[in-house]
Amino acid sequence: MGQISMWLGIAALIFLQNVSAFNLVCYFTSWSQYREAPGRFVTDDIEPGLCTHLIYAFANISGNQITTYEWNDESTYENLRELKTRNPKLKILLSVGGYHSGSEPFRKINTSPHTRSEFARSVISFLRHNNFDGLDVAWNGPSQNDRRHLVNLVQDLNIAFHNEVKRNPKKQSLILSVAVAGGREAIDNGFDIPNISRFVDFLNVLSLDFHGYWQDHSHPYTGHVSPLRKNKADKGSASSYNVDYAIRYLKTKGAPDRKIIMGIPTYGQTFTLSSAQTGVGAPASGPGLPGTFTKLAGILAYYEICSFNHDAKKEKIEEQEVPYSYKGNQWVGYEDETSVQAKVRYAKDNNLGGVMVWTLDLDDFSGTFCKKGNYPLLAAIKNELNK
Ligand SMILES: *[C@@H]1O[C@H](CO)[C@@H](O)[C@H](O)[C@H]1NC(C)=O
Ligand SMILES: *[C@@H]1O[C@H](CO)[C@@H](O)[C@H](O)[C@H]1NC(C)=O
Repeated sequence: MGQISMWLGIAALIFLQNVSAFNLVCYFTSWSQYREAPGRFVTDDIEPGLCTHLIYAFANISGNQITTYEWNDESTYENLRELKTRNPKLKILLSVGGYHSGSEPFRKINTSPHTRSEFARSVISFLRHNNFDGLDVAWNGPSQNDRRHLVNLVQDLNIAFHNEVKRNPKKQSLILSVAVAGGREAIDNGFDIPNISRFVDFLNVLSLDFHGYWQDHSHPYTGHVSPLRKNKADKGSASSYNVDYAIRYLKTKGAPDRKIIMGIPTYGQTFTLSSAQTGVGAPASGPGLPGTFTKLAGILAYYEICSFNHDAKKEKIEEQEVPYSYKGNQWVGYEDETSVQAKVRYAKDNNLGGVMVWTLDLDDFSGTFCKKGNYPLLAAIKNELNK
C-alpha cells in the first residue's frame, strides 16, 4: 500500500513537471564577440544547462536563401553543436533577420509562393546541415503591407517543416518561433497574431524597449525599458507601454497562453538628465553615455550597470516593480534579481509558455562585475522558474 502510494506520488510529480515545464529562451548575439574583454562573449561562455532554448542572432538572407552573417559563423555553429553533448535536451535555434537587415530581404522572399518555397527549402537544408533544432523569424517592424506576408511566410515554413518529417519520420520536426513586437502600435501594424500563432511553436515577445531617449525627440524624458505594470502617470497611448499590457493584449488578440514567451532585458535604457529632477518622467537631453564595453549611447549591459551602481543612488518604481538608478546627470532603468523574479512569477501566474531573455551576453555572464557569481539575472530567473 505504502509502495503504491509512493509510486502514485512519483507519477504525479513527473506529470506535474511535464505540464508545468516552462521554457527559458535565451538569445545571444554574434556581435558580442567583438567587445573588449571581459565584456567579450564567445560560445565558451555559454553554460549548456542554463536555458531550455538558445537562439543565435542573426543569420543573413541573400537571394531567397538563408546564409551566414559573420565570417566565423561556421565555427560558431560547430561550437554550439558541442554544447549539446553536455546537455542533450538543449534546443538551439538560429534567428534570421534582426534590426540591421530590415524588411527588404523578407519582402523579396515574399515576392511569390515560389520564392517563399525556395527560402523554406534553403532553411531546412541549412538548419539540418548545421545541426540546428529550429528557426526564429525576426522580422523587425513589419508594416501594414507586410502583415499578410509574415503570415504566409510562417505558414509555408510550418508546412515545409511538417512535410520534411513526413518524408523522414525518424527526424524531429524543426521548431519555428517568431519574434513579436511588444508595443501595441507595432503589433497592430505588422503582426496578425491569431494567424501567426497557428503556425509557430512559440512567440518571443519583445516586451522591452517600452521607453528610451528616442521616444520623444523634442522632449525626451526618463522611463523604464521594461516596466512590469502601468505607471499612474501613464496616460493615453503611454498606458500600453508595459509588460502586463502587452501580454494581456496578445492574449485578447488570440495568442494561446502557452505559446507566449515573455521577454526580459538584461540591459538598461539610459538617459542624460537635463534638470535636477531624477525620477520617472524627468526631463532628459538625450541618451546616457556609452558603456565601457557595449559602447552605444543609450544602453548599458547589466554588468556595466553593476559598476555604475557602485556609487549611484538606487531606487525602485514600486508600482511598476522595477529598479532605476542615477548618478550626476546619468539615469538608467534596468532589471535586477528581484525584478526578474517578479516577472517570472507573473509569467507563471498567467500560465505563459515561459520567459525569453535578450540577451545572455549582457548579463554578468563571467561574474566579474556584480560579484554575485556567473549570470546573476539568468540564475535568479531559473531559480524562480523552478520554484
Ligand atoms: C547579407 O546579404 C546581403 C544580400 O546578399 C548582402 O548585401 C550583405 O552584404 C550580407 N551581409 C553580410 C554581413 O554578409
Ligand atoms: C487570417 O485569418 C483570417 C481568419 O481565419 C483569414 O480570413 C485570413 O485570410 C488570414 N490571413 C492570412 C494572410 O492568412
